[in-house]
Amino acid sequence: MTGASVPRPYPVKWERTLVLRDGSRIYVRPIRPDDEPQIKWLLEHTSGRDLRFRFFTTVKVFTHEFLAALTNLDYSRAMAFVAFDESGKEILGVVRLHSDDGHQSGEFAILLRSDSRGRGLGWAMMNLMIEYGRSEGLKQITGQVLCENRPMLAMCRELGFQIHVNPEERDVYEATLTLEDQPAA
Ligand SMILES: CC(C)(COP(=O)(O)OP(=O)(O)OC[C@H]1O[C@@H](n2cnc3c(N)ncnc32)[C@H](O)[C@@H]1OP(=O)(O)O)[C@@H](O)C(=O)NCCC(=O)NCCS
Repeated sequence: MTGASVPRPYPVKWERTLVLRDGSRIYVRPIRPDDEPQIKWLLEHTSGRDLRFRFFTTVKVFTHEFLAALTNLDYSRAMAFVAFDESGKEILGVVRLHSDDGHQSGEFAILLRSDSRGRGLGWAMMNLMIEYGRSEGLKQITGQVLCENRPMLAMCRELGFQIHVNPEERDVYEATLTLEDQPAA
């Protein structure tokens, strides 16, 4: 990402309304430090299985330090988008993209509230994250996906990611999307 050493203000231009395949409209915006309580609530109400898919652990203790690392971002190096319900208070899901030190590659992760799935929100948020990575000039986007996480692997393939087995962790696949030859949207 360009200008990594220069702190960036809250990127208001990335506030969006996503239109899902069923026509519903979902407000998303870059995460802020004051989202910490809602993120804590989301994680505390996420199943052990989904926590494992997202964090590779089922530990259900979320310290302030852990939550601050998720919500208090240096926008020159990392971005997370949060999706809200109609009231604008409850978080339906989060997608994030953290760049490496050389700002060449970004690692994504996504987690939706269980009752917000299956209507295209994950797809729309992944596309927003990819659009962001492209706008930042990243050359590739990668993500670690457990091999048993079939829906996520299928979605990644459909989005154009290549899936590779991680030779050091055979139960984890690495999904990689190359951006460098594609024009910015
Ligand atoms: C994986 C996860 C993000 C998927 O979210 P979701 O909102 O249920 O996914 P979607 O409804 O967008 O499903 C993707 C599906 O829609 C398709 N799709 C959705 N909108 C689409 C559109 N506008 N155009 C084309 N295809 C679309 C996808 O190909 C896929 O097809 P299917 O429904 O026929 O299977 C969600 O289940 C989750 O949070 N899981 C737990 C955490 C996790 O596994 N994270 C991944 C580790 S990084």
